[in-house]
Amino acid sequence: MALTISPTVLLVSGAVVLYALYTRIALYLRRRAFKKQHGCQPSYYRYNKDPFLGWDVLQESITNAADHKLLAGMQARFLKLNTKTFHSRQVNVPLITTCEPENVKTVLSIKFKDYSLGNRKAAFSPLLGDGIFNSDGEKWSNSRHLLRPNFARDQVADLEAFERHFKLMIKHIPSDGTTFDLQQLFFRFTLDSATEFLFNHSTNSLRVLGDDSGSAEAAFAKAFSSSMDDILQHFRAGPLHFFRRGKKEGLEAVRVCHEYVERFVDEAIAWRRERDVGNVEEKEGDRYIFIRELVKQTTDRTALRNELINVLLAGRDTTASLLSNMFFEIATKSGIWERLKEEVKFLEGRPPSYEELRNMKYIKWCLNESLRLHPVVPGNTRLAIRDTVLPLGGGPDQKAPLFVPAGTTVGYSPYTMHRRTDLYGPDAHLFRPERWDTLRPSWEYLPFNGGPRICLGQQYALTEASFVTVRLAQMFDRLESRDTNGGVWVEGLGLTLCSGNGVLVGLVKGEKA
Ligand code: HEM
Ligand SMILES: *[C@@H]1O[C@H](CO)[C@@H](O)[C@H](O)[C@H]1NC(C)=O
Ligand SMILES: *[C@@H]1O[C@H](CO)[C@@H](O)[C@H](O)[C@H]1NC(C)=O
Repeated sequence: MALTISPTVLLVSGAVVLYALYTRIALYLRRRAFKKQHGCQPSYYRYNKDPFLGWDVLQESITNAADHKLLAGMQARFLKLNTKTFHSRQVNVPLITTCEPENVKTVLSIKFKDYSLGNRKAAFSPLLGDGIFNSDGEKWSNSRHLLRPNFARDQVADLEAFERHFKLMIKHIPSDGTTFDLQQLFFRFTLDSATEFLFNHSTNSLRVLGDDSGSAEAAFAKAFSSSMDDILQHFRAGPLHFFRRGKKEGLEAVRVCHEYVERFVDEAIAWRRERDVGNVEEKEGDRYIFIRELVKQTTDRTALRNELINVLLAGRDTTASLLSNMFFEIATKSGIWERLKEEVKFLEGRPPSYEELRNMKYIKWCLNESLRLHPVVPGNTRLAIRDTVLPLGGGPDQKAPLFVPAGTTVGYSPYTMHRRTDLYGPDAHLFRPERWDTLRPSWEYLPFNGGPRICLGQQYALTEASFVTVRLAQMFDRLESRDTNGGVWVEGLGLTLCSGNGVLVGLVKGEKA
């Protein structure tokens, strides 16, 4: 029996095939012209041996994660290929990874509009909604306009509030040199001060010495950290995130966080109404409260809640991680604590002013050096939303521009960049604050990001971290590492980078231990 196909079907399928072919060829020609116009050359550096799904790289990453060596593993890829920019593939996503300052500057600044945040949005959105940290384009631009003025004032950080929380932190520190974990205290300290600054109500987790697991504050702190864990799981699982465990618990944690913050949003909206009818007055010298400034600009309940949670997420763990990494290094090196004590001597024990803090050179060196060696946001990605180009990475010597097709993820690694020996010298892997005496880096130093999305809280974070450092240096004569790994820092990589084994130290007051 003869198989008959109607001529119409034939004609239609023929047209479909032709059209597909036509668009393919048109894309090919367009890209060829684009590459030629920009002088692009092909890349000679590819990390995968398995070019289809990239299982080899995935497996290597799983091993590295288990060994707490994800970042060293990333650096090793660059070294192994002897390159600053290479291609790889993660399941279905083509990746270009770079540690070349000029390329990073191009992604974050010069060709900012060619990129979006890409796949990070899905993981973060249950908790963050479309707040500043998790949106692109016009949405992001609106958020940035809303929040930026609140950071513009030089002195957003409230030193009196830091001092109050610091006094509570001190109560947890044994003054006889008994070993304890500073990192845990730093995470509580930054939560308490950030929630006071942002919500007008502190979680006061340092106020309690025993068990307070029943309080709303403790429930929030726990839910906030579970939400972050779930985000991390979702993020790491990538396209396979549906199979991750604990999805339901993650959503429940998000609900608890939202509910907790909404109370303060409602209070602030009520405050604004009272103010509008003249029932409350603001005085010059009132302490600075983020939520109060925000509610003057909008009374959109969801927007307020989202932005507050976004800023808390951006600002809390980051600053605690900076303090932890820095104290880990200071405690294990001789001479640094003494030099810090020397620098704060002139205060004769009183808390520093904002101006005094800003003028402390050695503390700044230590902070800069810590953020160089252990950048708390050690890697990041952007997604190319149109065909674009990187200035370096093409050709055998990598000096030619490199074509980036739309849909490519571009990853950059401040961790690797900050440890490049050609940029920082042969001792780049060492913590040596003195190197900042002469260093004046540009895009090769990127702890706070750059371009239009540069960190809004940089000044706040540096003020907070220097304040805590000054106060501890004033109070304790000796800082001794009691690390269980011989003083070798271990990667603690969650959403931020802290010390994997905590910061076990002994602090000693007075001459006798
Ligand atoms: C040592 C402490 C900190 C470090 C290293 C740090 C680093 C960063 C980095 C790398 C980004 C860019 C993320 C990206 O675009 O993918 C960022 C963004 C941001 N940071 Fe920080 N941050 C710190 C502390 C803070 C603090 C204390 C606050 C607020 C009080 C804050 C508020 C923000 C905000 C709102 C953004 C989003 C900006 C935007 O997308 O337009 N950060 N930060
Ligand atoms: C801040 O908290 C105080 C109570 O501690 C309250 O009286 C005030 O209205 C709050 N302000 C805002 C803007 O929420
Ligand atoms: C710390 O690094 C920043 C960014 O490069 C730089 O502007 C600043 O001068 C450095 N601070 C010190 C004290 O070296």
